[in-house]
Formats: sequence, structure tokens, C-alpha cells
Amino acid sequence: MTEKDMRKRYDSLYNENDRYWGESPSPLSLILLQHVKTKTTGAIGRTRLLDIGCGQGPDTLFFVRKGFNVTAMDISPIAIADLRKHAEELPKGQTAIIALEQDMRELPEETFDVIFSRMALQMIPATHRRDYIEELKTRYPDALHAHIIPITGACFGDDFICNDTLLTTAYTGWSIILQELVWTTSRVPNKKGEHYLMREAWILARKT
Ligand SMILES: C[S@@+](CC[C@H](N)C(=O)[O-])C[C@H]1O[C@@H](n2cnc3c(N)ncnc32)[C@H](O)[C@@H]1O
Repeated sequence: MTEKDMRKRYDSLYNENDRYWGESPSPLSLILLQHVKTKTTGAIGRTRLLDIGCGQGPDTLFFVRKGFNVTAMDISPIAIADLRKHAEELPKGQTAIIALEQDMRELPEETFDVIFSRMALQMIPATHRRDYIEELKTRYPDALHAHIIPITGACFGDDFICNDTLLTTAYTGWSIILQELVWTTSRVPNKKGEHYLMREAWILARKT
């Protein structure tokens, strides 16, 4: 799928609903927050997190509410417009968001403490996913890396399903804080209106 087609697909989904994927952060975001809290000696507000393929920002907004400085990037202009709109509704003092309409392959130059992606790495073609993760590791070697990827049930078909060993093999040699294969319920119903079971792989890893 070309970049343009991808943008169109997501723009049309997000046009339907300005919180298409709902408002809830992922369970991994809750775990990540606890982990950062136990490791952070200074204010959590100094923690800089990059949310790759952020969509309309359920996790971005969660992390901002918890005091992180978040840079969020997505290829869909509607996603970014919605995220900026939601960010304006946050209480004063919780507005530490930079929302970028940007292809995830153009990585920001800044340094981050956390690299996060939820259901986004599958958008990289299967043959390039390992290389992309290698690039994340090389660019941001000092960050905590947290990813959620689909192992079954990606909404645009089998090309968007990842190998269940992708994350663990890509992070071999790093310290794996958490790795899980998890059954979850889809956030959005299928054409029959049913929420269905899907399997995700999660990882939290840091360079040793
Ligand atoms: C399944 S959605 C997940 C959104 C969000 N992370 C969440 O979990 O709610 C995947 C997101 O990846 C974005 N995306 C797809 N290809 C991208 C690319 N090359 N660069 C940046 N974002 C991309 C889409 O626009 C979409 O918002």
C-alpha cells in the first residue's frame, strides 16, 4: 500500500469518529507508567516520550495527563488535527504535546527517554520491520522501548500481521523488562458489529 493510500484509509476512518480507537490507554501504557515511576528520581514531567503512529492519541493523551512530555507522530492529518483538538481540552499545565503529521520513517532528531508504539509497527512492510526496529535502537539507544504489535486480526488484512517473534528477536541482546503474547478484545467491532479476540505481542526493553 502506498503512503498516500495509507493516509487516505486512516483519514476516512478518523473522519467517522474523532476517537475512532476509543479513549483508553493500552494496558502496556499503565505498566510502562509504573516502571518509569519506579525508575525516575526526578519529576516524571521531564520524561520525554515519542509515540510512533499515535493515531488520535489515546496513549499520547494518557501520558501527557500523567506528566510526560510527548512528541506524537502520525501520517494521517486528520489524526493529528483530532489529537491537537483533544490536547486543547486538557487542563492547563497538561499540554506538553508536540503533534507531528509525519511518516514514522522520518524519525525526530531529538533525544527521548521512552520510544512507544501501539499497533503501528505493522505499517512498515514485513521485509523492513526488523531494519526499522534496528534504526529505532540505533537512534535512541538510551531510551526505554515499548511496542505493541498485532499477531492476529489486523484490520487491513494479513500483510499487517506481524511475526510473533519479531519483537523478541529484534531486541535480542537488550534487557527485556517485559515480553508477553496477550489475547485482547478488538477496540473496534468487525462488519458484523462484533468485538473479536485478537492476539498482540508486547515488549518493554532497554539496552543493557
Ligand atoms: C492501528 S492505528 C493505531 C493508532 C494508535 N497508536 C492507537 O493505538 O490508537 C495505526 C496508525 O498508524 C498510522 N500510520 C500508518 N502508516 C504510518 C506511517 N508510515 N507513518 C506514521 N504513521 C503511520 C495510521 O495513520 C494510524 O493512525
